[in-house]
Formats: sequence, C-alpha cells, structure tokens
Amino acid sequence: MLGPVILAASRSDRMRRLISAAPVTRQVVDRFIPGETVDDIVPVVEELTAKGLELTMDVVGEDITTPEQAAAARDAYLALVDRLRALDLGERVEMSVKLSMFGQSLPGGHALALANVRPVVEAAAAIGTTVTLDAEDHTTLDSMFAIHDELRKDFPQTGCVIQAYLFRTGADARRLAASGSRVRLVKGAYREPAEVAYQQKHEIDKAYVRILRTLMDGAGYPMVGSHDPRLISIAQELARKAGRKPDEYEFQMLYGIRGDEHLRLAAEGHRMRVYTAYGTDWYGYFMRRLAEKPANLRFFARSMLTR
Ligand code: FDA
Repeated sequence: MLGPVILAASRSDRMRRLISAAPVTRQVVDRFIPGETVDDIVPVVEELTAKGLELTMDVVGEDITTPEQAAAARDAYLALVDRLRALDLGERVEMSVKLSMFGQSLPGGHALALANVRPVVEAAAAIGTTVTLDAEDHTTLDSMFAIHDELRKDFPQTGCVIQAYLFRTGADARRLAASGSRVRLVKGAYREPAEVAYQQKHEIDKAYVRILRTLMDGAGYPMVGSHDPRLISIAQELARKAGRKPDEYEFQMLYGIRGDEHLRLAAEGHRMRVYTAYGTDWYGYFMRRLAEKPANLRFFARSMLTR
C-alpha cells in the first residue's frame, strides 16, 4: 500500500523541496540517475554501449510551468544529440522524451509540445537515431498519440509508449500495431483511478500479455519494457510464435534495475536497451522508482537515518 502514497508524494511540491534538499538523497538517486550533466553521462553511454547494450536517454524533468522551461528542455536534448554525434553510435542510442517537459500542460500546450519536440526528432534523425515519446498520466495520452501520428508523417521511426494498466490500451495497441509503429509496452507507473485503469497486479500482468501478443503479431516493432522475469520469457515465446527474428523486437529496462539481466539478455543475442536518465530535475522519476519497489524506500529511509 506504500506505492500509492509515494506516487501522491511524487506530485507534491512540498515533498519535492524536502527530499531534493536532503544531502544524502543524491547517493541514493545515483543508483537510478547516474549523472546531472551531459559531461557526466557521456562516459556512462560509452561504458554501457561497450558492453553490447543499447540505450534510450532521458533528460529528467516533467510538469514544467513556463514556455521558457519547455524551450530549455528542448535545448538540453539538442545538446545531448550534439554530443552523441561525435560518438557515432547511430540507433544504438535513442532518446526518450516526456511531452509535459516540452510544454504540453501549458495553455496551447499541444502545439507548443509539438513545436519543441520536432527539432529534437529532426536532430536525432540527422545522426541516424530516433525518439520515443514516453507515456505520462492518462489525461495526456490523446495529445501524445496525436503528436506521435504527426511526427511519424516525416519521421516514421518515432516511437511511443503504451501502458498495460489502462483499459484503453488494447485498442491503442491494435491501431499502432496495424500502422507499423515502434511501440514500447510497459505496465504503467502513475497513480490512475479505477475508472480508467486496472488496480491489481495480476490484472495488469494479464493485460500486458494480451497487448504484447497484439504487438508481436502486428506489423510494428515491439519494445518490451519490463523487468518482470515471467513477462520476459513470455515475450520470447510470443516472438518465436510470431516468427520474429531477434532484431525484430527488443527488450528495455531501466538503468539501476536488474543490471545482470541486461547483460544476460544482450549476451544471448537479444537487443537490450537501457533507459538511462540524467539531469537535475530527477524528483518525479526517482519517486516513481521508489513506488515500484517499497524496499527501495526502506533503503532510502535507512540512509537518511544512519547519516
Ligand atoms: P514489476 O513492477 O512487477 O517488477 C518486476 C521486478 O523488477 C520486481 O520484482 C523487481 O525485482 C524489479 N523492479 C521493478 N521495478 C523496480 C524498482 N523501481 N527498483 C528495484 N527493482 C525493481 N512507465 C510509464 O508509465 N510510462 C513510461 O513511459 C515508462 N517508460 C519506461 C521505460 C522502460 C524502458 C521501462 C523498463 C519502464 C518504463 N516505465 C514507464 C515504468 C513501468 O511502467 C513500470 O513502472 C516499471 O517498469 C516496473 O514494472 P515491471 O514491468 O518491471 O514489473
């Protein structure tokens, strides 16, 4: 029952100020967010790609409040792409973006987010890679999918994320699979009401398998975003049944979670992409990682107390 409490705290400004200011927090945060600047993150990119892993990069941040912050988010991604150009890793390193960081929730936010994300998608394409639009809370998704459709007119490789816990996702998956999209399927990390989302783990897991089957049987490129060992073996089985070769789908996991499994899957010949977040505005991302596994919260609380 701790998860929903932590997710509520992830949207609280007061908690944000308290937790972000605690000196010990940074050490715990490092496990999930291994750097604050592009200079910090480039060696991490080099290290992980040298191990045969692929990456999707997230400059952390969300729920910004001014157009200037949205423009700064765009520029942070453009600076990252600029540094990636020199590494010449092509599609082995792509970008993940949250449209709320690009201005989606501001007045006129749909158009603003599209205008801010387009140059990032263009810059990524110019270095041979692409962008995936993360899925945030359910109220943002119609806008996210419309922006995804718009971007795909010029950049068909642009990906998006769908969340198994939402009732709507079966229909979204059928549409996206038919259109040949790159789609990352995840369980879902936000606090959603019972009117729109499954609340029980077993229901979410069952929905995940149903939706994954749609993606594997469809015409797109499925990206299996999960650390759940059962779902990973089911994904392998569904891919085999659908006649997909190892380069016709991929696994994705978060930096700092089940790192041995990243290497094991890559060594077995799977495409394994690590979602690697960096930046200073890490509070929301960090709190969602705590909510997913209450043991993380105990570790965090112990670090605070034993300091
Ligand atoms: P589950 O939560 O059942 O975990 C399975 C096992 O993995 C656990 O038993 C534990 O061992 C380990 N584990 C999982 N989370 C952990 C954690 N935080 N700390 C330590 N161990 C942990 N969500 C969203 O709403 N929108 C999005 O755009 C994305 N994007 C995204 C990208 C990628 C690459 C991944 C892997 C995940 C996301 N997510 C996301 C998050 C996703 O919705 C979900 O919250 C987490 O992946 C946890 O769910 P699992 O499928 O891993 O299963």
